[in-house]
Amino acid sequence: MTVKVLVAYATKNGSTAEIARTITEVLREEGLEAELRPVADVGELQEYDAVVLGSPLYKGQWHKDARRFAKRRREELAQRPVWLFSSGPLDASASERNIPPVPSVRRLLIEIHAKEHATFGGCLTEDARSWAARMIVKAGHGGDFRDVKQISAWAQHVGVTLRGGAAPRREER
Ligand SMILES: Cc1cc2nc3c(=O)[nH]c(=O)nc-3n(C[C@H](O)[C@H](O)[C@H](O)COP(=O)(O)O)c2cc1C
Repeated sequence: MTVKVLVAYATKNGSTAEIARTITEVLREEGLEAELRPVADVGELQEYDAVVLGSPLYKGQWHKDARRFAKRRREELAQRPVWLFSSGPLDASASERNIPPVPSVRRLLIEIHAKEHATFGGCLTEDARSWAARMIVKAGHGGDFRDVKQISAWAQHVGVTLRGGAAPRREER
């Protein structure tokens, strides 16, 4: 039976959506049925065997759409294997070392018994939507720090873990 994975994401400027798309494509290459959706468009979680949930960091926390989704769906999330990712750092740090989740995401990870969390480098360019974002770019702190190799390797690891047949939904154990 094919494992069906939901890849749900929040985004403000679009770069986390692209990370989520890369993850989805890798999961498909791994033979899984992966569905890509913004968190606001996610219906019932019942049809999914596993979830990958990601959000950009803004001022030390996840985007509000992702926070809302996690809060409302935490019981459903806790019933299936979940992997979390954050995107944010506007430097090479996320490629160089493992950056732990921010406190609120760490609490979520524990609460829903998520399998793992990864932090990926972020992206901010001059067409960003907010004034604050454009100021950051103007000050020379923008750029694209997404590491496709790192993202793909992580997604492959998720795919291999799921393909390995482990982790059926908890309610079915
Ligand atoms: C106002 C502002 C606040 C930010 N705060 C953080 C932060 O606290 N931690 C972090 O790692 N990145 C932070 N970032 C960087 C964003 O997370 C990064 O640009 C991300 O890739 C944006 O994702 P999106 O394109 O999906 O919206 C911030 C960016 C802006 C514009």
